Amino acid sequence: MRDKRRILTGIRPTGPLHLGHYVGALTQWIELQDDYECFFLIADIQALTTHEEKPELIRQSVREVVLDWLAVGLDPTKPDVHFVLQSAIPELTELTTYLSMVTPFIWIQRNPTIKTELAQLGEKVSAGFMNYPVSQAADILFVSPQPGEGSSNILVPVGEDQIPHLIGTSRIAKAFNRIYGPTFVVCTPKVGDVGRLLGVDGQTKMSKSLENAIYLGDSSERVRELVTKMYTDPTRGKATTPGDPDKKENVVFRYHDAFNSDRAQVEELKARYRTGTVGDVEVKAMLYVALEAFLTPIRQKREEAAEQDVVEILRSGTERARELACETIERVRTNMHLVRI
Ligand code: TRP
Repeated sequence: MRDKRRILTGIRPTGPLHLGHYVGALTQWIELQDDYECFFLIADIQALTTHEEKPELIRQSVREVVLDWLAVGLDPTKPDVHFVLQSAIPELTELTTYLSMVTPFIWIQRNPTIKTELAQLGEKVSAGFMNYPVSQAADILFVSPQPGEGSSNILVPVGEDQIPHLIGTSRIAKAFNRIYGPTFVVCTPKVGDVGRLLGVDGQTKMSKSLENAIYLGDSSERVRELVTKMYTDPTRGKATTPGDPDKKENVVFRYHDAFNSDRAQVEELKARYRTGTVGDVEVKAMLYVALEAFLTPIRQKREEAAEQDVVEILRSGTERARELACETIERVRTNMHLVRI
């Protein structure tokens, strides 16, 4: 009998995962995996909403994401941890269609994440893209128990950019329940302490296209290169000028905060930085050491993971997910009074 609370969260497979994914989402997932029944979704259909012309990239990235998940310590050998492939659950597509009927289009147009993405994508936006917030609601709500019969919400640990989608999901759940009767519980977002990590350029969040990301599988050489290039305090000409280690865009210190386990060293560096008694070179050298200490075991685990049967891992996780999706679809069809033939 499974009566644990459920977690559903996901990632689009559009490339390997980086440190931004780690602090924004993965650390929390790892911590929560023993206490919940967890569904970690690889949202390959959602990836198609922007990468419809790159099917090979998506296909390859499904594998990369699984390896990255294994490397950071998500563990699908635990009975309640499931790695799930979105495209292998056709019921999600069906649920998306039903949910889209109770979702006013204006909710999507006003979604701040959608607005930002639209500004980046310009004219090249498909109807499928505009519907992805509804499809994401389906991704989450398919694990919903019947209200009153299980826990009263679904926990969704994510990076903060996903919040509008989760608010949208709960609204859609309520809109559906209002028309068709209690069918779904709502979802509760959970954002980590560090939230968003800027790229090494200190300008925007880590992103593949900007080449400002450090990947979990990056070599020591590439890490060294990117740390050397890292943005610091631009107002500081030389090592003897006092600088501000607390600025958001002073990313060398943001990375020290996130990845250097020697807190005393970090505090000392900050103090010396403020008084102009340490140079960027030293601060960066220490960050490189800290990042290597963090990444080395992940690289090792990633190599071991490469021996595993990724397809089999996805198949078994998806099987449990599909079981739930089928139950949910039954309830939905009944509540919608769809004619049975
Ligand atoms: N939108 C998420 C991203 O861009 C991926 C995602 C798809 C997701 N379905 C989800 C996240 C459900 C949380 C819950 O990475």
